[in-house]
Amino acid sequence: MKIPYIPEDAPFNGEQKYWLAGFLAGLHSRLLVLEDKQSAPAAGASTNTQLHILFGSQTGNAEALSQTAAKAARAKGLVPVVQALGEVDLDVFATMRHVLIVTSTYGEGEMPDNAQLFWNAISASTAPRLEQMHFAVLAIGDTGYDGFCQAGKFIDMRLEQLGAKRVADRIDCDIDFEEPSSAWIGTAMPQFAASAGSSGTALESAPEAPVIPGSNKQNPYAAALVTNKRLSAEESAKDIRHFEFDLTDSGLKYEAGDALGVIPVNDAALVSLLLTQLKADYETPVPSFDRNLGDLLTYQFEISEPSRKLIEWVGQHTTNQELRHVLQHDDKDTLAVWLWGKDTLDLLQLELTRSLSVPEFVAMLRPLQHRAYSISSSSKAHPNQVHLTIASVRYHSSGRERKGVCSTYLAERVRRGEKPAIFISPNKAFRVPSNGNAPLIMVGPGTGIAPFRAFLQERQATGAEGKNWLFFGDQHQAHDYIYEEELQAWQEKGLLTNLDLAFSRDQEEKIYVQNRMLEKGAELYAWLQDGAYFYVCGDASRMAKDVDAALYEVVRQFGGLSSERAAAYVDQLKKDKRYLRDVY
Ligand SMILES: Cc1cc2nc3c(=O)[nH]c(=O)nc-3n(C[C@H](O)[C@H](O)[C@H](O)COP(=O)(O)OP(=O)(O)OC[C@H]3O[C@@H](n4cnc5c(N)ncnc54)[C@H](O)[C@@H]3O)c2cc1C
Ligand SMILES: NC(=O)c1ccc[n+]([C@@H]2O[C@H](COP(=O)([O-])OP(=O)(O)OC[C@H]3O[C@@H](n4cnc5c(N)ncnc54)[C@H](OP(=O)(O)O)[C@@H]3O)[C@@H](O)[C@H]2O)c1
Ligand SMILES: Cc1cc2nc3c(=O)[nH]c(=O)nc-3n(C[C@H](O)[C@H](O)[C@H](O)COP(=O)(O)O)c2cc1C
Repeated sequence: MKIPYIPEDAPFNGEQKYWLAGFLAGLHSRLLVLEDKQSAPAAGASTNTQLHILFGSQTGNAEALSQTAAKAARAKGLVPVVQALGEVDLDVFATMRHVLIVTSTYGEGEMPDNAQLFWNAISASTAPRLEQMHFAVLAIGDTGYDGFCQAGKFIDMRLEQLGAKRVADRIDCDIDFEEPSSAWIGTAMPQFAASAGSSGTALESAPEAPVIPGSNKQNPYAAALVTNKRLSAEESAKDIRHFEFDLTDSGLKYEAGDALGVIPVNDAALVSLLLTQLKADYETPVPSFDRNLGDLLTYQFEISEPSRKLIEWVGQHTTNQELRHVLQHDDKDTLAVWLWGKDTLDLLQLELTRSLSVPEFVAMLRPLQHRAYSISSSSKAHPNQVHLTIASVRYHSSGRERKGVCSTYLAERVRRGEKPAIFISPNKAFRVPSNGNAPLIMVGPGTGIAPFRAFLQERQATGAEGKNWLFFGDQHQAHDYIYEEELQAWQEKGLLTNLDLAFSRDQEEKIYVQNRMLEKGAELYAWLQDGAYFYVCGDASRMAKDVDAALYEVVRQFGGLSSERAAAYVDQLKKDKRYLRDVY
């Protein structure tokens, strides 16, 4: 597969460059013609009735929608060809006549990983003209983020700039995208069919392969929770837990590096407080839903983090000067500071100028979302189980104990033997190298250790002989040294060649994993020179940035390189897929 030309001046920032590097290295032609099992057409082979459905997707929503669109296309006599955007060669793209782009948005208004390379290519000044192309964009996103559906908006705008003709206006869908997207597909497909001159006669569809429950978000699996064990000591400021789920007979497969999606259930105590606030009962019927209010608040909607619609409504109907002032400023940072530690109930408890009816309230809520967790086991070591390592989110605010929805659902509301809904969320970009001799350097403080426990189990199970080095840390050695026995046993067996610990609060000056990296800089650089893979997992907002800076510093100091050459060295690690991150 040819990698599109990306000029030096292509408009992407440092972070985007990171993902681009991952993509360039990851381009090993995983051709996803998901419905028809056809090959992608060669350059120039695009026929009139072919509809190329190209998706940008991180966790599978846009990918699943592409399948829905493919079915609708066949019903209109079109021949759908479904592919990930990152796998489309720019030269082939330029020959396509009919294109439906289905994409989510990630980061802060950025492309999903598997659309970044495509975006870099079409946004470059050297991108080809696309006058022959007819296109439409189905964008999915989340109005909770500032750059709502930004990836879809950018692609839509750029295709038009390049001369492509819009067959249907773009749709921007929120997290409850199923209905609006399906209605949009219903109207866009006849337009594509007319444009492509399709006879409109439905094509025969291949029989659908059965979907294994748990293989995606749309088809979760009810997995029995068999272990819920506190890892951090009672004296710890944290409640970090180890969970094990039974997968026997599920048919589910996962790889070390994948994440598990968990669909939570809201806390009954918070539901009850909300019902009281709304002066309603659990059984109160809600027009247009086939569930009562209590069930809706328990299973269907986010009731902790306030939705934007609710914030705006309350802003318009409150005498609370602080909120009115914050909203008038229209500044997301000021609003975020004001909202920190406040939930839906806090907003309803502000002084309101008029009461809010139950249907009005429910209409402003957002669907309850799954939470992702890095899997902390290898299926080679635990063929019938999947393990997680989770820090419970708990804090006090305005005299009420606040609980993270999903972390405390698992920690305190699911009893052993009960079966929460889970699904595997593959992360193909975060894997142990296929070369068992390659050295691994893993930086995972706090719950960031999760995938590295899986990696070490995997290396042990496969008998991989490469060296392994773990940087781990948390607040106090006495209370927060999770998986201590396992790590020490692996060290004694020689599986864990190096183990460097950074307990931040055991001394006056904080010590973090990146301090340990710099202390061992000469050895770390020697490992990199030996072909080591460098992995980071855990907190994205602070730790991952500081570790990135430390890696660069190690290379500069211990490689004796100039700043520019050190930066190029780290960039090359990314391009070679030897610098990989799973941060949140
Ligand atoms: C790919 C990926 C992998 C992940 N892996 C792991 C993992 O292995 N282990 C793990 O523990 N987590 C992991 N996470 C994070 C996890 O998905 C959840 O975000 C986390 O468990 C919190 O979810 P919750 O439902 O419990 O909390 P929520 O109900 O979502 O509440 C979290 C929110 O509470 C608020 N909040 C938190 N603390 C405070 C405070 N002190 N004061 C005021 N407000 C506060 C913040 O607004 C925060 O966003 C991962 C995330 C991703 C994206
Ligand atoms: N965004 C935030 O403000 C924030 C804060 C805490 C947790 N979290 C999130 O909470 C979840 C669970 O956190 P966790 O329990 O896994 O671990 P964590 O809160 O990330 O803490 C693990 C260790 O990392 C240290 N640490 C703090 N800042 C660091 C930095 N800049 N560089 C390197 N190490 C640093 C912590 O030290 P100290 O705590 O002593 O500083 C602690 O020793 C994650 O999702 C994390 O992203 C977010
Ligand atoms: C870490 C993260 C960042 C996100 N950033 C944005 C964003 O900036 N804008 C947006 O509209 N949606 C954002 N979303 C929402 C996703 O686009 C949305 O959940 C979408 O349905 C995911 O589809 P996918 O599974 O195909 O990737 C974000 C989601 C996550 C988890």
